[in-house]
Amino acid sequence: MVTRRNFIITSAAAIAALTLDKKNILAAERSKPLGAGNPLQIPTEISGGQLTVGKTSIQILSGNQTDILSINAVYPPPTIRVKKGDSFSAHILNNLSDDVVIHWHGLHVPSAMDGHPMNAVKTGVTADINYSVINRAGTYFYHSHTDMMTAEQVYRGLAGMFIIDDDEDKALPLPRGEFEVPLMISDKLFDSNNQLVYSPTMDDMLRGWLGDTIMVNGTPDPFLDVAPTLYRFRIVNASNSRIYKIALSDNSEFTVISGDGGLLEAPVKTTSCFLANAERLDILIDFSKYQQGSSITLRSISFSTSDAPPPAPIPAQGAALDILRFDVTKTGDSKASIPAILSSIVKYLPADSKTTRTFGLTSSSVAHAINGKTFVMDRIDTHVPFNTLETWKFFNASEHIHPMHVHATQFQVLDRGGSAPTAPNDLGWKDTVMVNPFETVNVLVKFDAYDGVYLVHCHNLEHEDHGMMSNFMVDNGGSVKDTQTADTQLSVYPNPASDKTTITLLDTDRKKELFLFDTSGKVVLKEIIPDGLQTFQLNVSSLATGSYRVALGDRSAILTVIK
Ligand code: C2O
Ligand code: CU
Ligand code: CU
Repeated sequence: MVTRRNFIITSAAAIAALTLDKKNILAAERSKPLGAGNPLQIPTEISGGQLTVGKTSIQILSGNQTDILSINAVYPPPTIRVKKGDSFSAHILNNLSDDVVIHWHGLHVPSAMDGHPMNAVKTGVTADINYSVINRAGTYFYHSHTDMMTAEQVYRGLAGMFIIDDDEDKALPLPRGEFEVPLMISDKLFDSNNQLVYSPTMDDMLRGWLGDTIMVNGTPDPFLDVAPTLYRFRIVNASNSRIYKIALSDNSEFTVISGDGGLLEAPVKTTSCFLANAERLDILIDFSKYQQGSSITLRSISFSTSDAPPPAPIPAQGAALDILRFDVTKTGDSKASIPAILSSIVKYLPADSKTTRTFGLTSSSVAHAINGKTFVMDRIDTHVPFNTLETWKFFNASEHIHPMHVHATQFQVLDRGGSAPTAPNDLGWKDTVMVNPFETVNVLVKFDAYDGVYLVHCHNLEHEDHGMMSNFMVDNGGSVKDTQTADTQLSVYPNPASDKTTITLLDTDRKKELFLFDTSGKVVLKEIIPDGLQTFQLNVSSLATGSYRVALGDRSAILTVIK
């Protein structure tokens, strides 16, 4: 597939289309002539099987090919599409030189199959994944969840759609086939050789990595030829940190029918809706009111944040951006309609909630924390009883937006800043909820599928990789084995660090040698731990940006140094 930026079709047909319906087209609706840009790619659909993770070069922009991380050597990665009740099986072969692990975002999956970073797959190794699909129909996705490399691996390509169908969805008169289109949105930054740039500075870690090129299904500057009829778009925000406020360029209404965990109870008409990182929205757009030859653009409209803007020309978080242009050039009828009722969702009652747990969110340029702690792979922060309704209170004590995600379940938003949720992206079953600066969002949550260790984290991927993630264990009576192995993990905070970092000591650490290894295994620092200290200040100011292993006795940790 060859796509070209700014490729302009100058065929007679396109020119005719331009002149014919001129009077019907609002000038503001069309920023470019029909055909300019790249036709939207639609990923191939698979139902599982072999998933080989590797590196591939792909023609994305004109000129040099771009090195990306691919699944089965294609990009965009295939869409996995299964039916509720199926048993899903996949063989994930890691052909990268780094570890990799794939997470099935939004799905109820046994802990060992969930893609926890502790289950990372080594180079050359295949992981066999097997679980039953128990979630309802909906738009989900799969992506890398590798320890401290989630952001970079997702950015470089490791994210694809995961669609579940079921009888309830199938019975509705919704658009199907060519009228049902997946849209996975991400933003990238390319260098002058067309290679993806990923080099977060301290400021980028605070706000997250932003790009200047919006890609939909891996297509830059995309357009889609549509017929004047009703369409269903399954939208996933797979961007590292960019949040979209979805709207149409002529401010027309569209209809939200589904969220993170499938169909809402009833359609919601709106002219704009937030879509934070990892959130999903299925929307219906009715193109029947547009004349042949007109164009309309799905865009993100501006919203304000307190994030410092990234270096020019990268648009700030909240800047207005075009996402996908629709050219009404086809004929056809989806024979679909907007049902008045979509589904029924049994509401959790706050009175049934047994416990309230607070997740306090703080951010600094070196670390993002939950309740003051950054992620440690095998430290369990919370034990949650199986099949018990709880209130989880996300309190954002920072000036950055944190889209908070919970594995292993779908929850319901109880209130946002004390008020019942009204925004379409807060309705229905949710697995990710946007928590605005200094806001408190309460969700009602229950884990009734599997026990074991799962994650709660911010889905701004730079925040996630730099600490804003925590393990909880769903306890099912006494049957759960404790997988805590806290004594093999060294606590290092802050991590990443640029100047100094603190290592928590045990009594037995006295006079031991502390080593710092670089990625090639070379010792770059050696310190003797003096007597009588509870903590040891490690000075890393002389070290280059990179990742290091800190080892003390039989405990170790990976430390990231950032300049
Ligand atoms: Cu989509 Cu734990 O992530
Ligand atoms: Cu997830
Ligand atoms: Cu965050």
